[in-house]
Amino acid sequence: MSEQMTQVAFIGLGAMGVRMAARLVEAGYPVTVTNRTAARAEPLVANGARWAESPAAAAAEAELVISMVTDVAASRAVWCDPERGALARLREGAIAIEASTLTPGWIDELAAAAGDAGARFLAAPVVGTRPHAESGRLTWLVGGDVATLAEAHPALQVMGGSIHHVGEVTQGAVMKLAVNALFGVQVAALAEILGVLSRAGVAVEDAVAVLEQMAISSPAAKVVGAAIAARQYAPMFPIELVEKDFGYVVAAAEALGAEVPAAAAARAVYRRACEAGYGEHNINGVAQLFE
Ligand SMILES: NC(=O)c1ccc[n+]([C@@H]2O[C@H](COP(=O)([O-])OP(=O)(O)OC[C@H]3O[C@@H](n4cnc5c(N)ncnc54)[C@H](OP(=O)(O)O)[C@@H]3O)[C@@H](O)[C@H]2O)c1
Repeated sequence: MSEQMTQVAFIGLGAMGVRMAARLVEAGYPVTVTNRTAARAEPLVANGARWAESPAAAAAEAELVISMVTDVAASRAVWCDPERGALARLREGAIAIEASTLTPGWIDELAAAAGDAGARFLAAPVVGTRPHAESGRLTWLVGGDVATLAEAHPALQVMGGSIHHVGEVTQGAVMKLAVNALFGVQVAALAEILGVLSRAGVAVEDAVAVLEQMAISSPAAKVVGAAIAARQYAPMFPIELVEKDFGYVVAAAEALGAEVPAAAAARAVYRRACEAGYGEHNINGVAQLFE
């Protein structure tokens, strides 16, 4: 695959996908884009991307097909729909990359389906949020064949220079869920503890200023603490996606026979936040439950 000429299809132009695809277009890749809601492709098409009516039509032109969609149901639709799904028209030998955060169980099925369609497959979820996607600073957690990753590497690098090969396809998916679980558990714990401190008369901003000086505050917790103190809830990593990911963490653990009581408790907190109407707020908006 000669990199200057690599034809990329990008499926899913949500908050993350639109920014990732824009990086590829800016880097000079010939990119065909598609999205359930066509209007979201307009800025990319204005900058030189080609529009395709369906994932199948986008994949028909591509050597590298990347999907970045919400959840397992969306991934199933964009890859496996018999008429519109990308697998229906993948080129022989193309590389199919699923970058969404999904369950290892689904990734296993999808890898098999891609193989049956004559393609090679990588599970390549990303760590980082909208600003990282916009500036090409995502971290990739890749599962799959090392030689296939080597071929996809230059295009992935345009979207994020930190590329970790984790192991088999399902291991990339589990690693990503692990990262989000560790993050989400911390945020839920910080949110409830700030609620306790606040009721004890310690102002949230004062509590955050003290906590962030201590070794118990991770770099991520410091950023989240500052956002809670500033009551900034504009979405980067929205609570509804956090809740979806915790559902996947619990399901993946169950399938592996592992216990995750802390993750299950955090999941219940994020679910409550969705029920309270905070689903579109950023992850730190969960603090509103404990004010
Ligand atoms: N936001 C983050 O900080 C972040 C960070 C790392 C990873 N992720 C993961 O990356 C993925 C995308 O996240 P995002 O923030 O870009 O989400 P988003 O803004 O909600 O975008 C979701 C995308 O999925 C498409 N979609 C949803 N359901 C579909 C269906 N049934 N059929 C076809 N397309 C469908 C949407 O199409 P429409 O435009 O038509 O709605 C949109 O393109 C998720 O798996 C998320 O967990 C997110």
